[in-house]
Amino acid sequence: MVRTTALAAAAASLLFSRSVAAEGLYGKNSAVLQISGLDYDRLIAKSNYTSIVEFYAPWCGHCKNLKPAYEAAAKSLAGIAKVAAVNCDDEMNKPFCGQMGVQGFPTLKIVKPGKKPGKPIVEDYQGPRAAKDIVNTVKDKIPNNVKRVTDKTLDEWLAEKNETAKAILFSDKGLTSATLRTLAIDFAGLIPIAQIRNKETEAMKVFGVTSVPTLILLPGGTKDAITYDGEMKKDSMVEFLSQITPPNPDCPPAKAKKAKSGSKKDEKKASKSPSKSSKASASHKSADASSAAASATEEVVEEPVKPVVSPDPEVGDEDTPKPVVIPQEEEKPTIPVVSESAELQSLCLNAKSKTCILAILPKDESSEAATTAISSLASIHKKHDAGASHLFPFIGVPASNPVAASLLAHLKLGGADNVHLIATNGKRAWWKKYSGDGFGLVEVENWVDAIRMGEGKKEKIPDSLLGGEEKVEVPEAKVADQEPILAEEEKKEPESHHEHGEL
Ligand SMILES: *[C@@H]1O[C@H](CO)[C@@H](O)[C@H](O)[C@H]1NC(C)=O
Ligand SMILES: *[C@@H]1O[C@H](CO)[C@@H](O)[C@H](O)[C@H]1NC(C)=O
Repeated sequence: MVRTTALAAAAASLLFSRSVAAEGLYGKNSAVLQISGLDYDRLIAKSNYTSIVEFYAPWCGHCKNLKPAYEAAAKSLAGIAKVAAVNCDDEMNKPFCGQMGVQGFPTLKIVKPGKKPGKPIVEDYQGPRAAKDIVNTVKDKIPNNVKRVTDKTLDEWLAEKNETAKAILFSDKGLTSATLRTLAIDFAGLIPIAQIRNKETEAMKVFGVTSVPTLILLPGGTKDAITYDGEMKKDSMVEFLSQITPPNPDCPPAKAKKAKSGSKKDEKKASKSPSKSSKASASHKSADASSAAASATEEVVEEPVKPVVSPDPEVGDEDTPKPVVIPQEEEKPTIPVVSESAELQSLCLNAKSKTCILAILPKDESSEAATTAISSLASIHKKHDAGASHLFPFIGVPASNPVAASLLAHLKLGGADNVHLIATNGKRAWWKKYSGDGFGLVEVENWVDAIRMGEGKKEKIPDSLLGGEEKVEVPEAKVADQEPILAEEEKKEPESHHEHGEL
């Protein structure tokens, strides 16, 4: 039977991809810091530095495509921000990837220190997957603890903590570079750093500065200022300031790496601990909504679909990946088939619904095309499920569902005796069509991956198909390019809590 053959092929490809799973995408000598779920807290969440973390699976094509750009970004951000990667195909990391709300591969998250130590702000990186864009976005997120000082405020600043060391960068720039911001983080609490523009002529005169950029170090009290004469490079600037005091620990990624490999054995032994700590933080959640764990669980994005056990982040056992749409049958993965129009409307076709993949089926559901399409979709979903990435719902729409006919007509899809695969997003009012030749696993998976990446042509979904609920207007310009779409809710979050922290 066709169906069994397709399934066998799908199973074989799954097996094959499993066998390479243990191998990470980034080698030992990569500039990308390979971390596990157990390292995350120590190396990323508790760090004073800003990080970008890629959640990937070694079998995923888009992850492989991203690799060169990500490596390049890591090199360019060396000493400025941490560039890390988590292999979500590794059994040990699956619960962690689930907790972080990873829905597809690759997912990139920027983690920057929050106002409270150890409670970072986590945001999805939604920008283009080129090194330059990644680097610029990460740099933008680096906190700025550099004091902007003018002629007017100079005396006041010099009077503060006058007995201990300070540093000043004279510059013609209005903005503070990522390098200087990072330097201020290296020496946070040790050497306050200021930036003064060259148009502040009084200050220039006081310190005898004639050209910019010039970095000077005030050792403390009225001791003579020392002018830096090296290159404006991070490492040598750190060395220069280190004549006063060594920087805070944990700065260079290299050190973090060393710490990691050194403690690998301990981590294995302590493999029980993540569940413990995640439970502890999950119970914190209501009390402290800005905690890292809370924002992580809240990032589970695509809304749960009714036919499934609700993936309520607070209730679920943190050790098992959260349930996805497919019923978990071992032998015959399948997708839910929804024959009630109201149910389909409430799942996927309303003004609030997120991305869905719909397989509009012909009357003859046992046709080769129909069975192949369903088994391909089911295998893809199952694979993501196994990788703890939570993919949007895949739903079969039988010809008996009246919505099938109206989709065919309004979207001008063509004959009712063929299978039609479409992706819909009610909230953003777009749909996309699969226009491949067959419904084999590889073609369909490429298409699904492209949707996750926000690639491919979007068409406007007619309002008439989004009946029922009130329409939420989403201006065209705001339509994001990528899936999963997370940003809105989470972006507001950091501002609303807590006293202002130091740093
Ligand atoms: C301390 O104050 C004096 C007088 O304003 C100033 O010249 C000196 O640079 C200050 N030192 C530091 C480390 O702030
Ligand atoms: C982080 O910054 C604080 C000062 O704000 C400093 O005391 C602490 O040592 C720093 N921690 C690390 C790991 O750099």
